[in-house]
Amino acid sequence: MTMNIAVFISGTGSNLKAIIKYIQSNNLPISIKAVISDQPNAYGLTIAKLNGINTYVVPFKKLSITQDLLDVLEVSAPLGIDYIILAGYMRILPASFVNYPKYKNKILNIHPSLLPKYPGLNTHQKVIDNKDTEHGCTIHIVTAELDNGPILAQAKCFVTPRDTADTLKAKVQKLEHALYPKVIENLLKPELNYHI
Ligand code: GRF
Repeated sequence: MTMNIAVFISGTGSNLKAIIKYIQSNNLPISIKAVISDQPNAYGLTIAKLNGINTYVVPFKKLSITQDLLDVLEVSAPLGIDYIILAGYMRILPASFVNYPKYKNKILNIHPSLLPKYPGLNTHQKVIDNKDTEHGCTIHIVTAELDNGPILAQAKCFVTPRDTADTLKAKVQKLEHALYPKVIENLLKPELNYHI
């Protein structure tokens, strides 16, 4: 049976691109039913369109975002989404969406730090400022508390004295592009996902 996912983005969409490529090259039974962006000019929307994926722009309006997202996912054309994949979606989803029964524990996020270190923004600079010797990315289940849900996977890299926030960003994105598609693939195997 095919697993249906929706990918939420705000920007470049390099993780989206890596996910599409991995699904295609491994012929996985995973269908990206929708790419949803809060930003109309996100380049990730172009990546989606080039790959024949339906795109939706849902501006982030605090008071109506849950209903606006559900309108796309459930009402206008029910998409039968099994999992929502946040891939550079730079908004905090409200509890009313995160805890919506159909999607509770079915929303994943990728975060550019080794959580629980450095939730929030500017993670690469924080690593430099604190003279950390390792850094990386985390994929976790989204809960109502920012960057705080159960951790599914992490990947690490070394930090050298020459690293800057930019070089760390590049290193971590490389890890992200390798890790996120594999975690998504694992969603096909419920025995590997005891917390979902
Ligand atoms: C990634 O580094 C991710 O960790 C963070 O936002 C970035 C998105 O990059 N949440 P992209 O849009 O996938 O290129």
